[in-house]
Amino acid sequence: MTVTATVNGQPVAITVDVRRTLLDLLREDLGLTGTKKGCDHGQCGACTVFVDGRRVLSCLKLAVTTSGQAVTTVEGLGTPDVLHPLQEAFMRYDAFQCGYCTSGQLMSALAVVADESLTTRDQIREAMSGNLCRCGAYQGIVEAIIEVKARSHAAGSEDATPDAIV
Ligand code: FES
Ligand code: FES
Repeated sequence: MTVTATVNGQPVAITVDVRRTLLDLLREDLGLTGTKKGCDHGQCGACTVFVDGRRVLSCLKLAVTTSGQAVTTVEGLGTPDVLHPLQEAFMRYDAFQCGYCTSGQLMSALAVVADESLTTRDQIREAMSGNLCRCGAYQGIVEAIIEVKARSHAAGSEDATPDAIV
């Protein structure tokens, strides 16, 4: 079947096997290797992306079901020259070591920053609990999120939410 979607703001039309996952379409067909494959079973969060503004485990989503939807991957967050505030905060708080989980952590963090009902460290930890980090960088991740949440609430939510995410 042909998938017609928007990926990081760019229109995409590609014919895929109906069994292909969104994760494999992103990495293997579109070359967007920032999104990682960890478990491939919905258990680690490394493959987290946004679909129509909601975080989704792309290893569990069939690519054909994204037709007509807007997909945002970590490549859509910032650029090497202009980092997204979360990317910049992750660097400052040492929120990664090997980096394998980081793109998934960033996409989940984006959802947590945007969710104004999450106001405490425990709530943030719970909301991030689907994203595992074998390097144990959890403390830095939470601190980075707290800082960006505070800044985005002070400035209005635009700071933390890329244009591609409604
Ligand atoms: S690769 Fe999707 S949750 Fe682990
Ligand atoms: S930084 Fe290595 S798994 Fe998280």
